[in-house]
Amino acid sequence: MAMDKNEIVLKVNRVYNPPRAIVDGSYIKPEEYERLYAESIKDPESFWAKIAEEELHWFRRWDRVRAGDHPYYRWFVNGKLNITYNCLDRHVKAGKRNKLAYIYINEENHEVKVTYGELLDMVNRFANGLKSLGIQRGDRVAIYMPLIVEQIVAMLACARIGALHSVVFGGFSAPALRLRIMDAQAKVVITSTWTKRRGKKIDLKSSVDEAVADLPFLEKVVVVQREGDDYELVEKEVDFHGLVKSQSSVCEPEVMDSEDPLFILYTSGTTGKPKGVLHTVGGYNVYTHYTTKIVFDLHENDIFWSTADPGWITGHSYLVYGPLSVGVTSVIAEGAPDYPDPGWWWSIIERYKVNVFYTAPTVVRLFMRYGEEWPRKYDLSSLRILGCVGEPLNPEAWIWFYEQIGKKNCALIDTWWQTETGGHMITTIPSYAAKPGKAGKPFFGIVADVVDKTGQPVAPNTVGSLVIKQPWPSGLRTCWNEPERYEKYWKTIAPYYLAGDLATKDEDGYIMFLGRADDVLNVSGHRIGTAEVESALVSHPAVAEAAVIGKPHPLKGESIKGFLILKHGQEPSELLIEDLKLHVRRELGSLAVPDELQVLDSLPKTRSGKIMRRVLKSHELGMEVGDISTLED
Ligand code: WT7
Repeated sequence: MAMDKNEIVLKVNRVYNPPRAIVDGSYIKPEEYERLYAESIKDPESFWAKIAEEELHWFRRWDRVRAGDHPYYRWFVNGKLNITYNCLDRHVKAGKRNKLAYIYINEENHEVKVTYGELLDMVNRFANGLKSLGIQRGDRVAIYMPLIVEQIVAMLACARIGALHSVVFGGFSAPALRLRIMDAQAKVVITSTWTKRRGKKIDLKSSVDEAVADLPFLEKVVVVQREGDDYELVEKEVDFHGLVKSQSSVCEPEVMDSEDPLFILYTSGTTGKPKGVLHTVGGYNVYTHYTTKIVFDLHENDIFWSTADPGWITGHSYLVYGPLSVGVTSVIAEGAPDYPDPGWWWSIIERYKVNVFYTAPTVVRLFMRYGEEWPRKYDLSSLRILGCVGEPLNPEAWIWFYEQIGKKNCALIDTWWQTETGGHMITTIPSYAAKPGKAGKPFFGIVADVVDKTGQPVAPNTVGSLVIKQPWPSGLRTCWNEPERYEKYWKTIAPYYLAGDLATKDEDGYIMFLGRADDVLNVSGHRIGTAEVESALVSHPAVAEAAVIGKPHPLKGESIKGFLILKHGQEPSELLIEDLKLHVRRELGSLAVPDELQVLDSLPKTRSGKIMRRVLKSHELGMEVGDISTLED
């Protein structure tokens, strides 16, 4: 049922204090936040050292907590560790061998339960398997898989032996996968035959075949054969489960330096091809461990469900490394949120008594459309904390989530962060008062502000750019092969880290996000560069030029609209438009397909020839165009 406008305004302007029981049970009490925060930024080295010391196992202690010259910081200098030891061995040694690490469920109701002991066993066997294929410390391994236990095993096995994984979301197309494999020069690709979504089998293996054709450096393709498969492996191909079975379950964790690379994850930027964001072992382990524990307020017996896919950073930090390092039980579900029916996810919460549920605003809005009757059918009383990430959680969706899913009995957190930041940056912690539509406060150790172009803080409630003023342990260390792109984050509003998001800060210091300040699109929480879609469009033989903008969309947050100039002799037609959409799907994947394509005679450009997307966007949305003094025509 839709709320009327006045009701929403009233609710939005309220401050939501979490229920007493949540405050009482939480690690950090609301009245402690300010003091702890002040301490954490006054002396970040002591703050993080204490956490690293108390929470994690190190083979060798660090010499200095932080070192390096701006913007190249190093954390826990000369510290030695292995993140898989902290995620697995540590818990097994502490008597938690039989505790569940994951409960996997798919849309056919097939369930798999994996304990910490079993996970360690599988990871070690597969790690030995990777070694037997010639993978060594420092090598890159691409992973293109659905959300199954084997995917997590693949990631951890790489980390076990010091190889870098580069996980590529299964929704990306073959050329997008190929680009990432080539950029990282991956020696091995790990995949599975297929995934299932809404009852339909989606073939992954054939995309891999296309992606790896004639790549001389690519040595092996490891394939998970799924239930009922009887796939005959050809040259270069290795069976995942066969490899696991053939190996010993003992594999000593590689002793990694704190600053050794852990993984590469590609993400879209303003221009050009995606950049390979590089994270390192020590700072990432410490920061994701601590944010998982504190931001989700996870306790020993909690059941955690992060609905993310490991193809994105949320899956890396809060489905794999963070929850395992903390040692909780996580639910993972392969498939779509609303299949077989719109009650599917609520039934999972009921069945496993999920306590902490972390999802994306686009999913909340999807469920809002289906209506309250679906969640009402299920017992959701196990829920204690609800969380969101990926794009702004608009106030209407915030209130719906809070009332209809949380039954006004849960804390709701809106966590802002990025692939680059590795972990949560701006969010209220569950015990702290929240405001609908606002992510809230910086996390411990994070010095954030909203500033103008010169780096000066803007007045309260005025739009500016979100910057981070001090380094933090899990920040990206560089962009793979492209250090200049890394430096750009710190150069535009020097010496701060520029996130690329527009934001405001209110009188109480609550930060609200308004979307990207640059040419990066956010479609259903998926980050897509306008440049990538444009270059996919112009790679079609009928297209001379293309410009892409994002338009506000009630469900997806943003939808993609492309403007095209056709080559001479090409006529616009419905058939051509459909073919162009298909072409983008083939080049990039379904997530990047424009909803609308419009053919124009010319595109607005600056005198130096740059397309002014801003002009197209204002025109499209019927808004003021703003300064067009540089417009050519
Ligand atoms: C961009 C980063 C971090 C995991 C998912 C996305 C947007 C993310 C929020 C939020 C408003 C958000 C930003 C950011 N974003 N979380 N809570 N409120 N916007 O990671 O793909 O690296 O995208 O997502 O625009 O810059 P990503």
